[in-house]
Amino acid sequence: MSDVLLPSAESAYSTPDAQGFYGPYGGTFVPETVMPALGELSAAYAEAMADSAFTDELAYLLRDYVGRPSPLYRADRLAEAVGLGAVYLKREDLNHTGAHKINNTVGQCLLAKRMGKKRVIAETGAGQHGVATATTAALMALECAVFMGTEDIRRQALNVYKMHLLGAEVVPVADGNGTLAEAVTAALRHWVERVDDTFYVIGSALGPHPYPQMVREFQSVIGSETIAQLAEKSVPRVDAVVACVGGGSNAIGTFHPFLTDVPSDHRPLLVGAEAAGLGLDTDKHGAALTMGSPGVLHGFYSYLLQDEAGNPLEAYSISAGLDYPGVGPEHSFLKDAGLVRYESVTDAEALAAFSLLTRTEGIIPAIESSHALALLPRLAAEIGPEGVVVVTVSGRGDKDMDIVREAGLGV
Ligand SMILES: Cc1ncc(COP(=O)(O)O)c(C=O)c1O
Repeated sequence: MSDVLLPSAESAYSTPDAQGFYGPYGGTFVPETVMPALGELSAAYAEAMADSAFTDELAYLLRDYVGRPSPLYRADRLAEAVGLGAVYLKREDLNHTGAHKINNTVGQCLLAKRMGKKRVIAETGAGQHGVATATTAALMALECAVFMGTEDIRRQALNVYKMHLLGAEVVPVADGNGTLAEAVTAALRHWVERVDDTFYVIGSALGPHPYPQMVREFQSVIGSETIAQLAEKSVPRVDAVVACVGGGSNAIGTFHPFLTDVPSDHRPLLVGAEAAGLGLDTDKHGAALTMGSPGVLHGFYSYLLQDEAGNPLEAYSISAGLDYPGVGPEHSFLKDAGLVRYESVTDAEALAAFSLLTRTEGIIPAIESSHALALLPRLAAEIGPEGVVVVTVSGRGDKDMDIVREAGLGV
């Protein structure tokens, strides 16, 4: 597939085509009844982004409510421990509600209000997108229901409680593994029935067009700020930029500005970290890009962990935000085009990276983000001791305390 894509890669990735395809990936594979709602959403989104009243309000909320720009912090003790010249951490963990997810929910909920919707729904895995949606819904006086798998409800009890406090309804989804994939299916099904009065706030850069593009644009603030902050700090060279990939929103938000705004001869290596769970040689992982093949799930065509009949397989990761069997379509495109490299990280490697950042810098990261941090020693071996690497710390670890305690850390 790369042969077809490569010649046009540089021009094609910045915007999908009119049908929402990034090369062969993306599109709108949904029931006919949803098509008018997606068309209405595309039009409202394009109109909003061209209206300075909308973009100014978004910028204001990102600054004064979310707390942006998030710092770009030089983590010297971590760099020394992994054998790199410098490591810069993009601190999305310091955002209000503790992760990057709120960049997107503020954008989508503002759009929902502008479209006259009174009610929003969301799906959540780690609970961070659910909390961010419930938070933004409270702020904007929107009714809110969050679909969540029963296993994730167990793993992320604190976030479930927060959603309740914020006034959201948490709808348990017991199908399959009781994780993110089933929550997305249930939310999409519900949306089909309530499309007239309900806005679906999708939490990652996936789903039918225009969601992958919209979420990418709301999250691109991460990469744009990083580029500006590197310049402010007079960092002359960056060798690699790393982010974890679940559905792919913090990664695409980090990478996209490097792909569009940095000339290719100055562009750092872009590396996404997927969940290898208990190992790629087991069936317990979430490495859709490394181990999957293209197929359709949740309204879009992309790399997918699937059986021979095309049924999605159950993904696994210690982190609730990375155990999705698919991945956003733009990542599939970037993989085939060779513009981003994707590697996988086991639970054990992620836990080791979690401990390392905690002990060297006093920063407790989310386990999702720990997957990105786990690539640092590998990059040090590849780039050498002068190497300069940026890592997006997509969220803070508070929500993961029970999981790391169960895994035996800190005892
Ligand atoms: C802190 C954190 N990082 C990363 C992710 C993965 O999502 P995405 O790949 O869309 O950034 C999640 C998902 O819940 C999360 O909570």
